[in-house]
Amino acid sequence: MDHKHQCVALNDGHFIPVLGFGTTVPDKVPKSEVIKATKLAIEAGFRHIDSAYVYQVEEEVGLAIRSKIEDGTVKREDIFYTSKLWSTFHKPDLVRPSLEQSLKKLQLDYVDLFLIHFPLPLQSGMSLLPKDEQGKAISEAVNLCDTWEVECHPFLNQRKLLDFCKSNDIVLVAYGALGSPRDRWTDQNTPVLLDDPVLGALAKKHNRTPALIALRYQLQRGVVVLVKSFNEKRIKENMQVFEFQLTPEDMKILDNLNRNVRYYPVVDVFYGHPNYPHFDEC
Ligand SMILES: NC(=O)c1ccc[n+]([C@@H]2O[C@H](COP(=O)([O-])OP(=O)(O)OC[C@H]3O[C@@H](n4cnc5c(N)ncnc54)[C@H](OP(=O)(O)O)[C@@H]3O)[C@@H](O)[C@H]2O)c1
Repeated sequence: MDHKHQCVALNDGHFIPVLGFGTTVPDKVPKSEVIKATKLAIEAGFRHIDSAYVYQVEEEVGLAIRSKIEDGTVKREDIFYTSKLWSTFHKPDLVRPSLEQSLKKLQLDYVDLFLIHFPLPLQSGMSLLPKDEQGKAISEAVNLCDTWEVECHPFLNQRKLLDFCKSNDIVLVAYGALGSPRDRWTDQNTPVLLDDPVLGALAKKHNRTPALIALRYQLQRGVVVLVKSFNEKRIKENMQVFEFQLTPEDMKILDNLNRNVRYYPVVDVFYGHPNYPHFDEC
């Protein structure tokens, strides 16, 4: 496997590529754009694709993956596809039908990872799905988890959670790694990550972009990183994350940018739930 397809081991023996392509469609962008973007991403070298039932694009993403399989660019086993169980399907008898619905939309035989999108109740019917049946690695409560997908970037570096994950053989997956799309789902009263002068100075030093510095930061600290772009130039640019290295001093400088900025406040709909997670400092 060449450098573009670096993977880390999950605790069930499967491997997850360290760079993943996000498939959320921006406001006012037609869903058909996700077909084009996903195909471009696979052509550029992305092998990990992150999606979810609630993104309402699994038909389009499935179509893009299948077309890249049909034209010989990849085989199904080269692609690591993540779907997610939406919160209205946590009841045990709804879990399997929900996965089956995603598979039908995708027109694929299996997903590689089936996450609980918002795993607050921690007692969902996911345990009724045998491992390796249709979701190759099933993430549930902490002690069964293979991966934990959370917002993570230099302004919210999740250091304590990452240490916990590393010591419990859980792979941390970062979303919002470039500071989110700053759309209606995110808090726009927040500093723009990619405008940060420290990121800018490191970008200049390495002759790369602030986005590449933010992505590389995650890879060097052992985090699997997702990135969404529907722009051909930026999709290709993001693959350059494998072409350079940050020094230990650069990593320390980036660690010091942590300031508890959360771009995604959406989980606040769960405010008051006994397992609400965001009281903990990070
Ligand atoms: N599990 C969850 O609850 C959850 C929550 C949020 C997101 N996610 C997943 O994580 C994925 C990525 O996270 P995100 O949506 O927050 O976005 P992100 O990866 O932080 O990206 C934010 C924005 O950066 C732009 N961008 C991409 N590459 C760039 C580059 N090289 N230079 C400058 N700008 C660049 C993109 O716009 P352009 O398209 O214009 O390039 C994008 O809208 C999502 O698509 C989704 O799959 C999961």
